[in-house]
Amino acid sequence: MTQDELKQAVAEAAADHVARHLPEGGMLGVGTGSTANLFIDALAPIKSRLGGAVASSEATRLRLERQGIPVLDLNAVDRLPIYVDGADEIDPGMNMIKGGGGALTREKIVAAVSDTFICIADASKLVPVLGRFPLPVEVIPMAVRQVSRALAALGGTPRVREGFVTDNGNLIIDVHGLAIADPVGLETAINQIVGVVTNGLFAIRGADILLLGTPEGVRIRVRE
Ligand code: A5P
Repeated sequence: MTQDELKQAVAEAAADHVARHLPEGGMLGVGTGSTANLFIDALAPIKSRLGGAVASSEATRLRLERQGIPVLDLNAVDRLPIYVDGADEIDPGMNMIKGGGGALTREKIVAAVSDTFICIADASKLVPVLGRFPLPVEVIPMAVRQVSRALAALGGTPRVREGFVTDNGNLIIDVHGLAIADPVGLETAINQIVGVVTNGLFAIRGADILLLGTPEGVRIRVRE
């Protein structure tokens, strides 16, 4: 099976999970990226069951609206029963690196108000230790040099993402060369650097359920 076929399989499995577990008329949180896009498409047969969705990026908002799914502002919602999103890497402890598409801050905000975070990923995303994928950090533009120095002091090699501005008007620094033995500790340490908006480690609030696309079928992992 190709990587796209594995993504398609987990997207359909996630839509099936939503159909079975989201209360009728419930609100759904929706992530960003190629796997999340396939998930949005897979919602077509069940969209009348949804009360609406909260989007983690402008790209996701547009795709949901094209699908005929109403998109609400997060400030209009207290809790989301389910949030579905992809990941760039996920480890056996259900910690993730996200933000390859640059939507990490809104993704983290939506995840924070969600009861269940369902990560949808093809098998290549499951790794023993996070860090081979460069860790994205969203930064206020005037702080880029200062934050880069602080990230280098933590042991990584920071590179500003060329020609990219986030939905929030900020820049992304991708930190290369990290082997992240303590995801919660590093997430906390990077958040303390002045000028950082957020970082792409999702460890303090990791995934609750992983739907992993493998050539043998979709495997389900639940956070212990
Ligand atoms: C977007 O900012 C990211 O967090 C994505 O969720 C993540 O990069 C996974 O994307 P793909 O599904 O395209 O691999």
